[in-house]
This record gives sequence, structure tokens and C-alpha cells, in this order.
Amino acid sequence: MQSILDRKLLFVTGKGGVGKTTMAAAIGIMAARAGRRTIVVEVGEQSQLARLFGLPPAAPGIEARLQAGLSSITIDPDRALLEWLQAIGGRISGRVLASSGTFQYFAAAAPGAKELVSMVKIWQLTRSARRRGAGGYDLVVVDAPATGHALGLLRSPQTFGAIARVGPIAGHTAEVQELLGDPALSAYLAVALASEMAVTEALELQDALNGQLARNLEAVIVNSLLPRRFTGAELDRVTRLAESADAVALAAARAARAVHERSRLQHNQMARLRRRSFEVIGVPFVWGSRLDLAAVEGISTRLARKL
Ligand SMILES: Nc1ncnc2c1ncn2[C@@H]1O[C@H](COP(=O)(O)OP(=O)(O)OP(=O)(O)O)[C@@H](O)[C@H]1O
Ligand SMILES: [Mg+2]
Repeated sequence: MQSILDRKLLFVTGKGGVGKTTMAAAIGIMAARAGRRTIVVEVGEQSQLARLFGLPPAAPGIEARLQAGLSSITIDPDRALLEWLQAIGGRISGRVLASSGTFQYFAAAAPGAKELVSMVKIWQLTRSARRRGAGGYDLVVVDAPATGHALGLLRSPQTFGAIARVGPIAGHTAEVQELLGDPALSAYLAVALASEMAVTEALELQDALNGQLARNLEAVIVNSLLPRRFTGAELDRVTRLAESADAVALAAARAARAVHERSRLQHNQMARLRRRSFEVIGVPFVWGSRLDLAAVEGISTRLARKL
């Protein structure tokens, strides 16, 4: 199989809060280690990555270097649409546009517009390897919004493409569509927790990807897995302990049961995913007050073995 790092675009999505930004960062680190000049695009977010790397946040739209071979940029769809409207509106100032209500009206009346303008910006980054000097990238990793909005981005060449015939994105819709549709150029990754809802959302994403773009998920990264702590024999002992009259032993047995039960439920959700054709990659929950760069580097090493 072609390595995932040989593509131009890796698109990471999943339910809110499951670890998309963390995995996009880990994939970015993995790609940079492999010698790929990489940029991670945070869509609509406030420079989470800069914080992870101990750097001050860059302004939206500015490419910022995180470490050797790895950069990040924040693309805010509202801002991207405003810039586009300004570009086609000639001399209307951004401030007037933003305050006149035209912007809100347009954003509401043209579903898919801000998504397509954002997608064109992402596509432009994939083309920048051709540029000379700084800022040329081999790989663009998109830390996409949660599933529903991510699908909106992916659908935008179809929903808005036909009317985007003017301004700086005119003529690029077909190229965006080619990038999103060609398995040699792009790959899709879902992040999920091993919970019923997050796994269901990942499976729905797979179906929607298939329906919209005739594409499949390359892998589902199942984040924050708990270890299986007890063997069968140990569980038997826990069960016997639960019959004990001693209050402390009883409490300990209940706690042990609860831990085991959570890990068992996670295992069942992994099994739901494994029935499908994509790769299923588990990432353990990392204990500690905050997930730091060293922990994300550790996740990156683990992903590199599987992707
Ligand atoms: N394996 C892990 N172990 C422990 N903490 C984790 C792990 N993965 C992610 N986290 C923490 O969980 C929180 C959510 O992660 P992250 O920000 O990557 O999720 P997200 O899907 O990008 O969220 P959002 O939908 O808000 O953008 C963060 O505080 C992150 O540090
Ligand atoms: Mg995020």
C-alpha cells in the first residue's frame, strides 16, 4: 500500500473533543520526522498547536514554523469568505463589508461558500511545494472541524462550485475536487473515542465519505483507550472479594469491576470498527495533568508503526 505520507493532503476529522487536534499534531510530527515538509491546518481554531509547541499563537492566515520541517496555519472560514468577498467587491473595505450585513446575508444565502473558499486555501497549500524557498510543503494535514462541518467542507465544490465563477477562487473548484477525490493525492482519517456515540459518528462519516466522494476512511484512530488490567483469574478473585463483608475490600472490588467494565465496553466498540475494511489504530489514554509535547511525540511514534 502507498504510504499515507506520500499523499498531498491528510484530512483528520471526528466527533468534537475526541483528539483531532492532538492526532493532527502527532501526524505532523511523524511526517516531519520522515523528512516531509509538513503544514498542519487548523480550521477555524485558535492556534492550539502553537500552544502545544510552547509558541505564541500566530494570527489567522499566517504560516508559523513549529519545528524543523513542521509549520501550522489557522484558516478561519468566516474570515476567508470575507477576504474573498472583498476581492470580488473591489474597493469595499473589509470593515464596511463586515458591518453592513451584506456579509451575514451572503454567508447565509450561499451555503458552502465559506467552506469552498477555505478548501481552495487548503488546496493552494498543497500546491506550494512548487514554490521556491521557504513555505513549500510536501504534505498538508488538515485538523478539520467536527464531522458534520468537515463534511460541509468536503461537499463545498459540489454545493457552491457552480456559482463560484468569479474572484480569486474561480476555476479552482475542479482542482479541489480532484484533490479530494483522488486516493493518490489525499487520505481521510477519523478520530474517535471508544464510545458508542463516537464510533457511530466515525461509521457515519465513512458512509458519507463514500456517498459524497466515493472515498473510504484510511484509518480510524481510537483515542484514550484504557488498559485491560485484570486476567480472568484475577477477575474471579475480584468477584469473590465483592462478596466480602469487609467494607474496604468491597469498595476495592467495586472499583476494580468498574475499571474492568469500562475497558470491556471500549473493547466492544473497537470490535465494531474492526468489522470494517479500514485500519483501526488504538492510542492509550495518557495520564497526567495535561497532554504535553513529549506525550504527543510518543503518540506520533505509535502512529508511525501503523500508518
Ligand atoms: N490520548 C490522550 N490522553 C490524554 N489526554 C488526551 C489524549 N488525547 C487528547 N487528549 C486531551 O483531550 C483534550 C481534547 O483533545 P483535542 O483538543 O485534540 O480534541 P479535538 O477533537 O481537537 O477537540 P475539538 O473538537 O474541541 O477541536 C485535550 O485537552 C487533549 O490534550
Ligand atoms: Mg481541535
